[in-house]
Amino acid sequence: MGVSALAPRLSTAEASAAVKVLEARAATAPLMGDEAPPTAVWAYDGRVPGPVIRARQGEKLRLRFENGLDQPSTIHWHGLRIDNAMDGVAGLTQAAVRPGESFDYVFTPPDAGTFWYHPHNRTWEQMARGLYGLLIVEEPEAPAVDRDLALAFDDWRLDRDGQIDEASLGRMRDWAHAGRLGNWLTVNGVSQPEIALRKGERLRLRLANCCNARVLSLRLDGHAAWLVALDGQPIAPYQPADGVVTLAPAQRADLIVDAVLGPGARTAILEVGGAHAVETAFLAYRPEAPTRDRPLPPPAALPDNPLPRSLDLGGALRRELLMEGGAMGRMASARFKGRRMGLRELVDQGKAWAFNGTAGMTDEPLLRVERGRTAVIEMINDTAWPHALHLHGHHVRVVERDGSAQTETPWRDTVLLQRNEKASIAFLADNPGKWMLHCHMLEHQAAGMATWVAVGV
Ligand code: C2O
Ligand code: CU
Repeated sequence: MGVSALAPRLSTAEASAAVKVLEARAATAPLMGDEAPPTAVWAYDGRVPGPVIRARQGEKLRLRFENGLDQPSTIHWHGLRIDNAMDGVAGLTQAAVRPGESFDYVFTPPDAGTFWYHPHNRTWEQMARGLYGLLIVEEPEAPAVDRDLALAFDDWRLDRDGQIDEASLGRMRDWAHAGRLGNWLTVNGVSQPEIALRKGERLRLRLANCCNARVLSLRLDGHAAWLVALDGQPIAPYQPADGVVTLAPAQRADLIVDAVLGPGARTAILEVGGAHAVETAFLAYRPEAPTRDRPLPPPAALPDNPLPRSLDLGGALRRELLMEGGAMGRMASARFKGRRMGLRELVDQGKAWAFNGTAGMTDEPLLRVERGRTAVIEMINDTAWPHALHLHGHHVRVVERDGSAQTETPWRDTVLLQRNEKASIAFLADNPGKWMLHCHMLEHQAAGMATWVAVGV
């Protein structure tokens, strides 16, 4: 469907460069390379990933979402602590945007960092088909690097013809296990892209896990990388001992990397989570002479974002979040649609997981907290699977893991819990509204792992 058939554009001075239009529509993408037939996808502006949106911290952004799909959709701005009305959650913060209709998202990002966007309606299907993109909020004074590269990782499940494996979309076996794991990995929509660089350069690499369900463990061969931010939020720079950065679905990491190898060298960004290391992308050194002849000092920390200075754990509102279900689990029944159902009946309804005994979104929030108070959620993963818990509208700190107190852990918007692990997260409830809390393994979310938190409402 052409853009002209959709909602009328602004025709006055407002229709300036300040309004960016993002249209979701059917498209094709050369996921298998230029030689192979392209893959039919759903994409923002016809590209996979969607365009990288660059915004400035504290400056208003106007984005018009146009829905050229044949099913309702929305856009959620993952990790941005913005107005609740702009959070893009169908059924909670807005009505889903129907085919042919549009919605204007207007918000001011309070934090600089690496964020991303994706639909929040049938997310498991719409993301599996290609709808996602990165949103970068630039620091007013960006750190000195020669190049700033954003890399969106995704694993697709393709069939023998290189098309999205549609037969397995919504397959309960995946939903009750790890989620939809793919068989074809891309970085910025390309399999094993080659990134050219020159000795002596300093790079900022922004890594984002845009997979539906796969946890990625990434290591840059031959280089010692400084980790400077997680989920968009600065941390004190350090070099992870084994060089591995683990990213659950939806998590991001910013790295500073100095190009120390020689002209002609070629090295890989490896995924080392499985039995064999997989080359996801290559860094290829150009033959030119080095850009500088002496090594740079370690990178400085990124400028602080306006996060809470302290969390009042003593005065916090506390709630438990018991996570149950899935294959090889112990859950025998859960409430769904107001009724207790046995596991078999739940599975017939497309549910396999529960939070505090309820599968899927509840009318009542997990917790209601007054604005300005600290809340602690004690998450207990009583399942045989890892989960990536994402809270909207806030960043959280892990304050306890498996019974031991943690201090000054990084601010995150998504927290990975291993099987049978317990972790408590704390956050200052300073952003009013209705905020989702769900597993970002999208099939787990769809199959029951979803609730919400009410702040000051
Ligand atoms: Cu990245 Cu509720 O989403
Ligand atoms: Cu999960």
